[in-house]
Amino acid sequence: MSADKTIYLFANWKMYLDYDESNILANALADKLKKIPVRIKMAVFPSALSFYPVTQTLNDIKIGTGSQNAYWVDKGGYTGEISLAMYKNSGAKYALIGHSERRHLFYENNHDVRQKMEEALNLGLTPVVCVGETEKERREGKTEEIIEVQLRAALENLSWPAGRELVVAYEPVWAIGTGLACDSTVAEEVHKKISGWISSLISGIIPVLLYGGSVRGNNVADYLKQEHIHGVLVGGASAKFDSWLEIVQNAEQIIK
Ligand code: PGA
Repeated sequence: MSADKTIYLFANWKMYLDYDESNILANALADKLKKIPVRIKMAVFPSALSFYPVTQTLNDIKIGTGSQNAYWVDKGGYTGEISLAMYKNSGAKYALIGHSERRHLFYENNHDVRQKMEEALNLGLTPVVCVGETEKERREGKTEEIIEVQLRAALENLSWPAGRELVVAYEPVWAIGTGLACDSTVAEEVHKKISGWISSLISGIIPVLLYGGSVRGNNVADYLKQEHIHGVLVGGASAKFDSWLEIVQNAEQIIK
């Protein structure tokens, strides 16, 4: 990426932290990260239960928050669901959509992803769409096919609101939570293709491309240096103060 670009550091806390732990981490970040460089855009995806207080705390230091998962109908008889509209009402700026753990552990499909995309756009949320192949798909040489289908389902024929960002995270499933991060030059090649597919699917869009999958302090710079990688989506290492700080500090080096 060129030296004057904005870097995106997105933290997906998954189900790692309970209510107290989430608030403790949010407060620690708010204390420590008072002066985030303007060229670093940070967002946190906390659990539903801690979403509101964490959002209040992080908004003070200009860190946005988003839902990890949400339903596309605003209100109604959907036991156990929380709507995108409710997240928006509680201060969300972003919506994580189609994370591979949703797709593979909870059988979320491309149709669900599409419904969520449309609703997120209607509500004024910035969607963060996750795409990526499994280990088996990779072995079978299907990486490109899988990602193209996922992107097409999410984006084709959408009318894109002017000025709204689209964030797409390439997260190879085999790299998530495994410590087996995708080689940064291989990831760059996939991002380049993703960039091309997005521009052929939809015009007038501002795509922000993130890499996700076992990002740590010691490899974050490798990704951020790539031309088509604008940032990272981090799971495990984002849910601990020290490892997140290391990532932030190493990212700051890149823009110095
Ligand atoms: P990980 O998860 O950083 O723990 O590999 C990334 C993600 O799932 O977004």
